[in-house]
Amino acid sequence: MAALFAGTLGAAGIYFLQARIDTVGAVDFDTELTIPPLAESEQDDSGARVFDLTIQSGATEFVAGGATDTWGVNGTFLGPTIRAQRGERVEFAVTNDVDEETSIHWHGMRLPAEMDGGPHQPIMPGETWRPHWTVDQPASTLWYHPHVHGKTAAHTYRGVAGMFILDDENTASLNLPADYGVDDIPLIVQDRKFDADNQFDDSIPLGSTSGTLGDEILVNGSHGPYREVTTRLVRLRLLNASNARMYNFGFSDDRPFQLIGTDGGLLPEAWETDRIQLSAGERAEIVVAFEPGDTVELRSYAAEFDLGDQTADRLSGEQDELDIVQFRAADALADETEIPETLAPAPDLGTENVAEVRTFDLEGRSINGQQMQMDRIDFGVREGDTEVWEVTNHNGYLHNFHVHDVQFQVVDVDGVEPPPQLRGWKDTVLLVPDLRYRLAMRFSDHTDPNVPYMFHCHLLTHEDEGMMGQFVVLGEDEEIGRVPQHGGHD
Ligand code: C2O
Ligand code: CU
Repeated sequence: MAALFAGTLGAAGIYFLQARIDTVGAVDFDTELTIPPLAESEQDDSGARVFDLTIQSGATEFVAGGATDTWGVNGTFLGPTIRAQRGERVEFAVTNDVDEETSIHWHGMRLPAEMDGGPHQPIMPGETWRPHWTVDQPASTLWYHPHVHGKTAAHTYRGVAGMFILDDENTASLNLPADYGVDDIPLIVQDRKFDADNQFDDSIPLGSTSGTLGDEILVNGSHGPYREVTTRLVRLRLLNASNARMYNFGFSDDRPFQLIGTDGGLLPEAWETDRIQLSAGERAEIVVAFEPGDTVELRSYAAEFDLGDQTADRLSGEQDELDIVQFRAADALADETEIPETLAPAPDLGTENVAEVRTFDLEGRSINGQQMQMDRIDFGVREGDTEVWEVTNHNGYLHNFHVHDVQFQVVDVDGVEPPPQLRGWKDTVLLVPDLRYRLAMRFSDHTDPNVPYMFHCHLLTHEDEGMMGQFVVLGEDEEIGRVPQHGGHD
């Protein structure tokens, strides 16, 4: 991305940017990193894998000075890592044990709309929701979080989120680091602000373009974490589960690492880099090599692209530097894994046989001049069709773009071949202002024409404020239906 802007920053501009770089949330790395437990499951008579998830409230100790009121799944903060195999049928019993209507959305998952867990599948307090589907997509790092309209930011901030890892035969046949919690480490990265009583403060500063930004970083709910390393190669599954903040991850000694996967699965081939930038909702799988006795920090550095002439960039955090997690390598490291030349098939939708081209202009809190309405379905796509969506951020500040049910292929960015980090399957893409992102996607399965999927900006305050729309996937002769009324909220 930096290259796209090489010409736009003069010497004065670079000086100006550097002058504003600020380290916030410096930590001592004195807490052992929590690894979310793998969710337990049972096989039922039909062979389906059944998980029990309970959304609950509690109190969690993050920093000295008293516990913080939080929400979590099967615990007080965040939730277990769910793991399933391609081809497997999964079923969930999701119980709402908090006193507000909420939901659980399976971010990045191909699944029927009524199982999606979006605004149309609220779970009322005391109720249990039972979605089920057959996993049919490549191995990848997905995640789950609430998605009840107008409350997604608040509920996610309180702590309802977790990772959802998919496995498949291709990935299992590779000799990548894959031992969960040993050399395959989930890193759920979230910024938080604590008030004087150690409670989460999700207020939005006046003039902020992006929403809530915290100056403390939690990784899997650990504040100031360190992690012992026992193998030469370690795979890190990075999830930006923050409401708004963007990260530009890299190591404190600038060591290179290999980017092996993005939102929808492994890249065609590993890409060596020393920075990977993730906006809210995006994931990256990286493999980093350690030497015996190494100590190094994963940090976040100032953004590498120019967000234009915004006035509030200090508030949106793009120039902050942050400590994330420290790694401490043992004196002897096991060395049994490797990164193969080729990882997975490249996305191949291309731009031939495109049934429909649609344009999405993002500005303020609307898309194509419209804001989310629960009962308005914006369009219908046809099952089996490939479409190209042309998406542009018309603001001088950050938006990104997320589509439910599909993983898409970034065809080009303003006519230029996408950079390596955008060459695999994606479900969320950061939109550098004024560049046109062309996204190819295929909608495989028609579902209920009355139940829409969402597309939206994943800065959660933007989404809650209406930067979201709805579409349905239709069978051959089907027409767009009507959203059924349901109680609770409007
Ligand atoms: Cu991660 Cu529609 O959301
Ligand atoms: Cu936005």
